[in-house]
Amino acid sequence: MAVIALKCPQYKVTLVDSNAGRIAEWNSDRLPIYEPGLDEVVTSVRGKNLFFSAEIEKNIHEADIIFVSVNTPTKMFGVGAGMAADLQYWEKTARQILTCSDQPKIIVEKSTLPVKTALTMERIVNSDPDGLHFDVLSNPEFLAEGTAIQDLSEPDRVLVGSRLTESGLAARQEIVDIYRNWVPEEKILVSDVWSSELSKLVSNLFLSQRISTINSISAFCEKTGADVARVAKAVGMDHRIGDKFLKAGIGFGGSCFKKDILNLVYMCQTYGLEEVADYWKGVVRINEYQKERFVTNMLQAMFNTLAGKRICLFGFAFKADTGDTRESAAFYIARRLMDEQARLVVTDPKALPNAKIDLAGFGDAVEFERCPYEAAEGCHAIAVMTEWLQYRALDYQKIYKRMVKPAFIFDGRNILDHKALFDMGFNVYPVGKPALTHLHES
Ligand code: UGA
Repeated sequence: MAVIALKCPQYKVTLVDSNAGRIAEWNSDRLPIYEPGLDEVVTSVRGKNLFFSAEIEKNIHEADIIFVSVNTPTKMFGVGAGMAADLQYWEKTARQILTCSDQPKIIVEKSTLPVKTALTMERIVNSDPDGLHFDVLSNPEFLAEGTAIQDLSEPDRVLVGSRLTESGLAARQEIVDIYRNWVPEEKILVSDVWSSELSKLVSNLFLSQRISTINSISAFCEKTGADVARVAKAVGMDHRIGDKFLKAGIGFGGSCFKKDILNLVYMCQTYGLEEVADYWKGVVRINEYQKERFVTNMLQAMFNTLAGKRICLFGFAFKADTGDTRESAAFYIARRLMDEQARLVVTDPKALPNAKIDLAGFGDAVEFERCPYEAAEGCHAIAVMTEWLQYRALDYQKIYKRMVKPAFIFDGRNILDHKALFDMGFNVYPVGKPALTHLHES
């Protein structure tokens, strides 16, 4: 929305949230999330045509177009628990829009939702046959965290789905007109609502599937001595395949991929498409396996016991350039290491506040330290959890001196110079590549 405000000064954009504390943060000098470039965008338009407010009803009443971006987490109770999307906030918003409106509005579904969810909104807001008419559209968001401003400024595509009725098409044109302010015409796709909703889910499914595919091959590489990065490079140079999203690691995290796959799996099961559901379940299964495999590799390499050992986690965010830790592979790995009675020191340039919340229940088994050198002090091992660029540039000689010997590095993101680390004395365990170790069996 901040980018829309920046690119379209003729529109007034107001963001509302029921969390007044959050809104206050958005109105302050310290924005509540870290996203490269976002501070600059917000400060350049805030108070001009971008506003943050906790007055939801008043702003619904005044708006012509409402983008609904409420969260739709995985449902954790009742039917579909652990798989289906929890749509309670979505439905509540529909009812709120209906109550607060006295003129027709365009409602745009921005949250990622199960296919045909727009129908729920449509049925509620248009429930009075003599009442107002609302057009409900789908305009999914494809930005990735860490690159959001770039992704929004130069999107691969913008997708707007509507009913193919006269008023649906007119509403669609209004949304297209917003994006035409900066997105080339040929990158704006239009479709029906359901295809638009499904395209969003399928995009995430394809991306996550590529990660699980290469991660499954990484396990094979570790058994055979092949190098997964070399394999990915050779495979990705085929232009039909492409080289993106082929980095093996500790598995995908983030608030979207797993949720979206489970969501589709649940819908497939609902429609009796068991084989399709099983196929996609495999993507999640490999992702879980990859995390568990990483922990098992650590355990085996460190003489089958981690009890009482200090392990430093380099990174806790689910990916670089964000402070977000939702579904972070680091969280799972941290818990599993603590099951083995390891003691953890967590460091991360941006995610420590969230890491502290996530790991609050683990008492003094875990410490938090901003400085990576301090964090590694007295540790038996470092495990790289997040692909932060700054971890490449550290003085590992200095780190090695401060660690307990034999010192181990488990590079869960394959970002470090493994040969150089080995030459310094580290025992190095990348993902999907041969380990470089000084601990030879006699
Ligand atoms: C993802 C999609 O990339 C966006 O297009 C989509 O809009 C977004 O979900 C969403 O639905 O909101 P995001 O979760 O922010 O974006 O981040 P990604 O860059 O996709 O990374 C997801 C996870 O995959 C991270 O844990 C990352 O480290 C991991 N990953 C990514 C790999 O392990 N290997 C790779 O080659 C690429």
